[in-house]
Amino acid sequence: MRIAIAGGTGMVGRRITEAADERGHETVVLSRRRGVDVLTGDGLRDALAGVDVVIDALNVTTQNARRATEFFTTTSRNLLEAEERAGARHHIVLSIVGLEAADAGYYAAKLAQERLVEASAQPHTIARAAQFHEFAGQVIKLTTLGPLTLAPRMLSRPVAAREVGHHLVDIAEDGPARRAADLVGPEEITLAAMIRRQYAHDGISRRVLELRLPGTYWRGLASGALRGDPATARIGEMTFEQWLDSEDHRP
Ligand SMILES: NC(=O)c1ccc[n+]([C@@H]2O[C@H](COP(=O)([O-])OP(=O)(O)OC[C@H]3O[C@@H](n4cnc5c(N)ncnc54)[C@H](OP(=O)(O)O)[C@@H]3O)[C@@H](O)[C@H]2O)c1
Repeated sequence: MRIAIAGGTGMVGRRITEAADERGHETVVLSRRRGVDVLTGDGLRDALAGVDVVIDALNVTTQNARRATEFFTTTSRNLLEAEERAGARHHIVLSIVGLEAADAGYYAAKLAQERLVEASAQPHTIARAAQFHEFAGQVIKLTTLGPLTLAPRMLSRPVAAREVGHHLVDIAEDGPARRAADLVGPEEITLAAMIRRQYAHDGISRRVLELRLPGTYWRGLASGALRGDPATARIGEMTFEQWLDSEDHRP
């Protein structure tokens, strides 16, 4: 199949592209670094020529609900319209397990994106995954102030981005299903514990302060809803410790 990966240069997008390449699919990466701006539509039409499946792993880093919603709904609309014109057969969007529990800020935007895709005529699959093992590093970059890292209280079942990549390619190969089983990791852990383990593994001495914050978003993160339901979810194999020791983690 010819598979386009929107955000194919990003944290998980790279892994999706690798998984699709490994399995012998033809891949097309849509990202500004590769000359395609999905938000403005520049270069999109040409890039989707002959594409069978589009996997959307785009991202914007903001907690502002209006900005994030503008990004995710505009990019999804642009992709869906361009796919329809190009005759693509399947739109897959990567979303987040349990996000309705934190329906504010960034998560409200991802929910709006899911609803837009659900309402579209394009055959689609919404694929939710838990936080990636790589998420701890993403948070560290945003919340470290000198000798201190702030970690909002968050309970999760993190999963390796590499396994998310393979999960999404499985879905591409299976065909449109509207909704895929959630993908969660093999163990439950808090974000603060992930960061502490990562620091211990990497020999970094820095204090991690876990914060319980008010409001729908932060209460949702702390509630445990993001862990999903292991009874119905697909469970990834790689633990956070195994990931720390793997080549995917480069301190
Ligand atoms: N992080 C997690 O733990 C987690 C868990 C579950 C689901 N997710 C979901 O996974 C998705 C990807 O997250 P991530 O952390 O892997 O993202 P990321 O590392 O921030 O990567 C974002 C990607 O989007 C591309 N991009 C941004 N704006 C663009 C534009 N206007 N046009 C074309 N490409 C654009 C970037 O490439 P350029 O900069 O080159 O344009 C990059 O390839 C998100 O939808 C997120 O909600 C994340």
